[in-house]
Amino acid sequence: MLTPARTQRFGSILDAIGNTPLVELKHFSPKEGVRIFAKLEGQNPTGSVKDRIALAMVEQAERDRLISPGQVIIEPTSGNTGISMAMVCKLKGYRFTAVMPANVSGERSELLRAFGAEIVLTDGKKGSNGAIEVAQGLAAEHPDYYMPYQYGNPANPQAHYDGTAPEILDAVPDVTHFVAGLGTSGTLMGVSRRLKEHDERIQVIAGEPDLGDLVQGLRNLDEGFVPPIFDQTLLDKKLDVRSDNGLRFTQELLWREGIFAGVSSGGALSIAVKVGQALDQANIVVLFADGGWKYLSTKLWTRGIDEATEALSDQLLW
Ligand SMILES: Cc1ncc(COP(=O)(O)O)c(C=O)c1O
Repeated sequence: MLTPARTQRFGSILDAIGNTPLVELKHFSPKEGVRIFAKLEGQNPTGSVKDRIALAMVEQAERDRLISPGQVIIEPTSGNTGISMAMVCKLKGYRFTAVMPANVSGERSELLRAFGAEIVLTDGKKGSNGAIEVAQGLAAEHPDYYMPYQYGNPANPQAHYDGTAPEILDAVPDVTHFVAGLGTSGTLMGVSRRLKEHDERIQVIAGEPDLGDLVQGLRNLDEGFVPPIFDQTLLDKKLDVRSDNGLRFTQELLWREGIFAGVSSGGALSIAVKVGQALDQANIVVLFADGGWKYLSTKLWTRGIDEATEALSDQLLW
């Protein structure tokens, strides 16, 4: 039965960012003493965790007087950050340009255009590193453009320190492990710093794709680019996410728990389950960065892993 709960009322969609639900995944618990909880970031207004950092980066730039309405904000992004930036910029009166690899999923560019963003497409074979190079070049050519640069902007991890982590501690005060995928590393850095201040025994584990493998949204640091905000000392472990395994868990999430999440979420869950298998008692929180909508065209849930792998390999090469 649906029990009436508090209904929050907001003055703007920007105020509805964060405070995402945390749901126990009973069907993935490897043993009785090991509980796994998912933080559903797909429930943010544009459907991903990146709403948090887009708002934080823009508001920090406003406080630092780096931007004023009408100005162009440019950012290299494989999609989610761009969509969040487009929404925040639209509401706050900035013009937004997303620089992204030509092979990201069609849903992403459609959504960006719907929010009124300009799109600069870069060589798909060069992945997100190619987009970063092009965006940096454009920003250097146009001194009046502002580039928040999520890979190097302290407001990115700070958004997770201020928001994501306290929400986790509020919902699971006895959390023992935190697992998330690694993209810019902002989620892992910000959440880790706060959780370890709370209790230094809390273990923080990153899921990164096998070198040369593809899990959309994630990166392997050995590819050659280490985000400036990354701090190795805040991670206890990095575990490989195999893309076929990640896709299988993404399917199983929907089938066993009714949770429709993006493909990096299945990857993160595969790591959470692996960590849990080696323990007798644990409360593991895993972060699901986005919902499944932007991956529907891969037909993962209806046609299966092979077809989805092919669809994704067309889009992003790592
Ligand atoms: C779908 C998805 N999952 C996970 C991540 C990783 O998050 P972060 O950039 O905070 O490391 C990203 C970020 O690019 C993403 O788009």
